[in-house]
Amino acid sequence: MDKLKHIISARQFDAPEFLLGLFESANQMERDDTFRALRDPLRGRILATIFYEPSTRTRFSFEAAENMRESSSATKGETIEDTIRIVSGYADAIAIRHFEQGTAEAAARISPVPIINAGDGVGEHPTQALTDVYTIKKELGRIGGLKVALVGDLLNGRTIHSLLPLLCLYPGVRVNLVSPWQLRLPLRHREYLLEKGIAFQEGEKLAGAIDDADVVYITRVQRERFASEEEYLAVKDSYIIDAAIANSLKPEAIIMHALPRVNEISPEVDDNIRAAYFRQAKNGLYLRMALLLYLLG
Ligand code: NCD
Repeated sequence: MDKLKHIISARQFDAPEFLLGLFESANQMERDDTFRALRDPLRGRILATIFYEPSTRTRFSFEAAENMRESSSATKGETIEDTIRIVSGYADAIAIRHFEQGTAEAAARISPVPIINAGDGVGEHPTQALTDVYTIKKELGRIGGLKVALVGDLLNGRTIHSLLPLLCLYPGVRVNLVSPWQLRLPLRHREYLLEKGIAFQEGEKLAGAIDDADVVYITRVQRERFASEEEYLAVKDSYIIDAAIANSLKPEAIIMHALPRVNEISPEVDDNIRAAYFRQAKNGLYLRMALLLYLLG
């Protein structure tokens, strides 16, 4: 795989070796004193974070992953191209989150510095997907051969849209897609799975779909993407993992969530040994450090 300049889509990663290298680097970050590890190679470099959509985790983890200064920009209605032209004059890399699919790609077309897609509407969220696969590897020791249930808003959940291409890199992964029919995984992503020869099933019921799963990855119903409140209310509580459901999973199974959660996972599950979501969030820091080092080191 050629060295990547921009990180726009998980489909750019077509080699498991690349992921392995990145995961090793993330591990190194975690082992070392986190901030000392980055201080040297990236000292004085500037990451701009341009967020047109709210974010807590992604933004914090990018900013913490830097030992660099941070500069952020909000929109006043100028085009993304103009914003990128200006900001790239000050920054060594730009992490961008936008409500419109394709924005990061548009930015990358004109940016002289690396663009990192930190979420483009219902499009993708590749750094979260890297974090997720890193988490699975850390928790379960492997990815190939695992049974992964993806549950919730598969239509709008961009973390899922990025996770699937990564799962396709590992032989024998089986995917179970669980969503209300209104929130079914978009056709282009199902086509991608077919093209890659990944075994997948689709259904609306949680029961039966997660019993023997190694990974249960549940997503927030993406309220901000709905045309009306009624449509949101009709599906918002489709799936809730409570203590009983969590305990019904295989003992070694893990429960994942990109966070923020709304109702999808009851707080009582947090103490369950299978609950991996807070560790997953922490892994995002190290993974993004490793990614910045790859892009700028
Ligand atoms: C996700 C996102 O922004 O897509 N959150 C995140 O990056 N941690 C998931 C979500 O908002 O539901």
